[in-house]
Formats: sequence, structure tokens, C-alpha cells
Amino acid sequence: MVSSWVVGLTSLLLSATNVVATGGFPPVTSPPGACGLFPADASCATVFEACVNTLQNKADPYSSEVCVAAASCYPTNPDSFLSNLFCRIQGPTGNPPKSADIPRVPPSILGNILVRGEFASLQSYTSWYNRVVTSVNPNATVLIDPAFVKMSFDIILAWTGFCSNGEVPAGNLGDWFQFFSTVTGPATTCNLVPNCPITFYPYAMDLTVTCARQQNAVSNPFSIQSCVAAALNWHDGVDSFLQALTCRYNIINNGNVAVPASNSLPPLSFNLPVSNSPPYTQQNFVDFTYGSVTAIGTSAARYPSTIDFVTRTWASIVQWTNFCSTGAVPQQNLSDLLQYSHVALTGTCSAVTCTPDANASCNQLFTACLSSSTILTDPYADSNCVLAATCWGGGINAFGNAISCAKNTQGKNANPQFWPRLTQAVFNTLGNSNTGIISQQNYIDAFYGALGKLSSPIWPDVNYVIGKWTTIATWAKFPNGNIPYGNFADWLTYSAVA
Ligand SMILES: *[C@@H]1O[C@H](CO)[C@@H](O)[C@H](O)[C@H]1NC(C)=O
Ligand SMILES: *[C@@H]1O[C@H](CO)[C@@H](O)[C@H](O)[C@H]1NC(C)=O
Ligand SMILES: *[C@@H]1O[C@H](CO)[C@@H](O)[C@H](O)[C@H]1NC(C)=O
Repeated sequence: MVSSWVVGLTSLLLSATNVVATGGFPPVTSPPGACGLFPADASCATVFEACVNTLQNKADPYSSEVCVAAASCYPTNPDSFLSNLFCRIQGPTGNPPKSADIPRVPPSILGNILVRGEFASLQSYTSWYNRVVTSVNPNATVLIDPAFVKMSFDIILAWTGFCSNGEVPAGNLGDWFQFFSTVTGPATTCNLVPNCPITFYPYAMDLTVTCARQQNAVSNPFSIQSCVAAALNWHDGVDSFLQALTCRYNIINNGNVAVPASNSLPPLSFNLPVSNSPPYTQQNFVDFTYGSVTAIGTSAARYPSTIDFVTRTWASIVQWTNFCSTGAVPQQNLSDLLQYSHVALTGTCSAVTCTPDANASCNQLFTACLSSSTILTDPYADSNCVLAATCWGGGINAFGNAISCAKNTQGKNANPQFWPRLTQAVFNTLGNSNTGIISQQNYIDAFYGALGKLSSPIWPDVNYVIGKWTTIATWAKFPNGNIPYGNFADWLTYSAVA
């Protein structure tokens, strides 16, 4: 079993929605995972991780400066921060404290955010936040997204009602940490960061932030590796990428350059650093993307959580450039894509053929599973899906990908780690509700019972079913085959990662 912490580290990889932050924290559309949302932003993830690992006095989370920084940047509000923090410290059960009930941020820490001990400004908040992030991990400094930091302060400024002068008095700043979760402020945003797209694919964000720090990022982005990798992996298309890049570039350089038109930018000016010369294959694109993420020193937790994100992007690139026949894209045509594609790529070369499971009975359960009303949000609410997950060749990640393929969701929400956990109620339809245990016999009965409800079931050999159960029992470390509810639920969630 992995700790929920490890799971959290990867949970940030899954959120797949791109938004323009228009005030308030960016909306969250991914499933929460075991402990709730992990910050999608690299710097916020860094301070949050440090808070989880170092908090000494659990009765007083704001006694820790990294925890205060994490509360200030954590998506949604300080109460969500606290519930995620305590879930990771003490497990998913138990009641986390509420921000209104914990001691205030002490003056010693608040003072570090203030100018002359009087008020917080964008500048004082930014330098404090950057200093705390850097003190935790100097490697994270280059990944601090200047737009994200500004958005975080914007929220504080708006809630406290100081949009007009941009200065939050000490007492009001303390109030924000205490009451933001429960009391509505006069505004949700002061609009400090207009039109600055965000992606929740962490690797694309980190590449973009790195790109924006380059001197000629806006004038000649397609001459820079991080910028090209970011542009090709920015799921909302090149125009959106250039907007995201330029607004960050302007914050970093305190400037006001206009967003360039992709058509008028210099074309792609270097060969991608891959093992062969162009045309580029899918493998080249995968190597280029992972290589570029590695080159900026971002942590492995921020890599694409599934290679599918990258291969599906490539499939759209191949389709847009019109190389479906070979699957390999010449340099010039890749350059054309950067200059002329503008919007999000959605096509792929042919209708994707989804591979069925090798076993007919498992495939029948899978087909039944696909008709679940919650197939895209909560597959394990359906017992056919639970059973199909247990028999699917390749394990639960392959099962998630199979759902994504069947429903054509382009890899979105395909990772079972972030699906809602198996409920006791669904478990009770499979195992023994009195003992809370599912035995091998229960599993066999459930498997055949579910098939029996389908028209023309293809009955499997019982040794096939037993083999599936043995694999799960071995993973769960219950070799006698009697698996408690929680351990079975863990298998459904974590068996691909541990
Ligand atoms: C920072 O990066 C270096 C080089 O990759 C690595 O050796 C070091 O462990 C990193 N430090 C932290 C705190 O992650
Ligand atoms: C690829 O680019 C070249 C050079 O611009 C162009 O002549 C060719 O038509 C393009 N290929 C496809 C398949 O669009
Ligand atoms: C697969 O399915 C068939 C029919 O459902 C079953 O008889 C067989 O034992 C299964 N075995 C394997 C290894 O797939």
C-alpha cells in the first residue's frame, strides 16, 4: 500500500481542465483523490508538501511558516487546505480543524509578509512567498508561476476589500487566513491578472513558466526548447499558449508587450533533440516531451501521469499536419503547426479502435459496465465495473484507459487513483456485509452472478476467476483470499502504483 501522500503527489497530474482564472481560485474539476486536491501549481505543491512533512504543532498549523504559505496558495480556501493537510497527517478519517477555530497566524510570521509591519502589498507578498518556496526547495524557485502568485494575492486583496490601494492591513490579512472559508468578502477578484490562461497539466505549466523566463520567449519562442515543448503540449492550442506565455513574461519583466500572432513569429528553428533526424515519430515526441521536462529540473511527480496524454497529443498533431499515412511528421510541417494551427487540436487520424479484453466474460462485464450512469465520474459505483476492473488484462490503469477509449475522453479522468473510492454499499453487493470481508467464494459468486444477469453470458472457467482473485489477494497481502473491504478498495484505487 502506498501512503495517501504519494498518491497526492501524483493527483496533481490528473486534472485535465484548462481555465482562465477569472477570480477566485481556478475551478477544480478532477476527482479529489483520497485526501482531496493536491495543488496543481509547482510552488504551492512544494510548500504544501513541506507543511505536511514538517508541521510540529498540529493544534496550531499557522505556527508553521510553510503552512501559512500553503494556506495562502492552496486552491479553494484554507479549510480545504486544512482538511487535505490533516487527511495526509492522520488518514482520511477524523475531523480536520476549521480555520476559524485554530490560532491566528502569529505576528512573527505575519510580519514577514508585511511592509514595515503595516500592510501586505503584491510585492511584499510575492517576495515572502518566493522566499518561503526557495527555503523549502531551491530547485522549485524557477518553477514559481508569477501569474499564480499574483492570483493568490488578488484573492486576498479582493476578500479584504482593498482593491483600490492594493494594500492589505495586518489585521485584515490575519482575518483572511481565519475567515475566508466562512465569510464572503466584498469582491472575489481585483482583476490583477486578466486573461492569463492556466493549464492543470503540471508538465505543460512548468514548461511554460520556464519558457516565460527566457529573454526572447515572446519574440522567438519556437527557437527555445522549453517553449516548443510547452506549445506542443498546451492542450488549448498555440494561441492560448502564446497568451499564457506573454502574460507571464510581462509579469516577470514588469513589461507590457503584446501577445504575438503565431503566423508572424519566426518558424521552428531547431531540430528536436531526439535520436534521429526528422520526420518525427510518436516515440520522438514522447522522448522530446519527457526530455524537456527533465531538462528543467522539475520533480518526477509532475511528469505526465500517463503517457496517453502525450501520445494522444501526438495523434492530433499527426492528424492536423496530414501525415496519417506514415504517422511521422517532417520538420517543416511541425513548424507549420506551431504557426498556423491556432486552436486546440481535437482530431485523430482514424476512429480509435479500442482493444477488448482477451477474455470474453471479462469483456462482457466491461460492456455492461460502460452503460453505468456514472461511468465518467465514478466507475466503482457500479458493481459490473468493479468486477471488470478485477479481471481486466493489464490491471486497473489499463481498465481506466479502456473506459477512456470506449467513451472517447482522450485520456481524461482515466486514472483510477482519482476515482471515488469503492463505497461500503457497493462492496456489500459483492462481499459479506456482516463481516466486511470478501472471500474467494464471494468473488466467484459475484462474478458468475453478474454474468448471469446479462443476456447470453459466456461462462469462464472457474480457474480463470480464481486466478484473478489470487492476484488481488497477493497484492493485498491476504493470501488466504479473505480480503477486508478497505484492502479491496485500496486494490481498486492503488494497485497500479504499489
Ligand atoms: C535539487 O536538484 C538537484 C539536482 O537535480 C538534486 O540533487 C537535489 O536533490 C534537489 N534538491 C531538492 C531539495 O529536491
Ligand atoms: C508539409 O510541408 C510542406 C512544406 O511546407 C508542404 O509542401 C506539404 O504540403 C506539407 N505536407 C502536408 C501533408 O501537408
Ligand atoms: C477466458 O474466457 C473463457 C470464456 O469466457 C474461459 O473459458 C477461459 O478460461 C478464460 N481464460 C483465459 C485465460 O482467458
